[in-house]
Amino acid sequence: MVLINGKTVSAEIRNRLMQETAELKNKTGRMPGLATVLVGEDPASAVYVRNKNKICGEVGFQSFGQNLPAETSEAQLLNLIKQLNENEEVNGILVQLPLPDHIDEEKVLLSIDPEKDVDGFHPINVGKLAIGNALLTPCTPTGIIALLDYYEIEIAGKHAVVLGRSNIVGKPVAHLLLQRHATVTICHSKTKNLKEVTRQADILIAAVGRPHFVGSEMVKEGAVVIDVGINRVEGKLIGDVEFDPVAEKAAFITPVPGGVGPMTIALLMENTLKAFKTTL
Ligand code: GUN
Repeated sequence: MVLINGKTVSAEIRNRLMQETAELKNKTGRMPGLATVLVGEDPASAVYVRNKNKICGEVGFQSFGQNLPAETSEAQLLNLIKQLNENEEVNGILVQLPLPDHIDEEKVLLSIDPEKDVDGFHPINVGKLAIGNALLTPCTPTGIIALLDYYEIEIAGKHAVVLGRSNIVGKPVAHLLLQRHATVTICHSKTKNLKEVTRQADILIAAVGRPHFVGSEMVKEGAVVIDVGINRVEGKLIGDVEFDPVAEKAAFITPVPGGVGPMTIALLMENTLKAFKTTL
């Protein structure tokens, strides 16, 4: 069994981005800029956003952190996004989800300039992903593909089974795998005979958000198991996969933490650099 090390891969990507950013800065006198927008005080979201701004600094980007109170109105948020859309120093805009209930998430995502949509959540970019020509694709799914590539895991022709159909992970990772010529099955809470389906997976992506949902009885011998779960249980981070028994069967497996998690931010930075380069 090979333990997939997301920390190492993510550090390599960040290093490459840092070098390229320094070269571009020398050449153009400009630097990429990322604006993060956090509404409210959800502690997990606050940690994510803080980390995003910290890594921004490390790779040499400018960061614009906007922390707004939970009572912020939808109109105020839309107005802020309009300003960020117009700000030439801002190449990427990330609105941390979930948003408070009184704000229409779809409306907010639609208001972001698709060329600055480094999350890849704008319907234009979702559509481009479905067609297969998106520049900006969602960070966690793209990070998963980067991990598979780093470990030279073949995707073409393999049966990839995705557990979960969220707009943030399940659906976009299914598209990316399809683009790489996998045979893709998406499973969800209404799927019948779930175990029979997951046992066919050469590549199993667990993105259901339920601690230890995937047991060894759901996994084929020699499968590649990617755990996207970040479940907080009694202060500990627990994945969607029951690690020890599944690791005994898997050929490759990601740990939680230290697997997919660190990749998301690295790919967010990569998207920001891509968006910046289109403006040069
Ligand atoms: N909330 C959970 N994951 C994500 C993500 O990738 N981007 C944003 N903006 N919010 C999230």
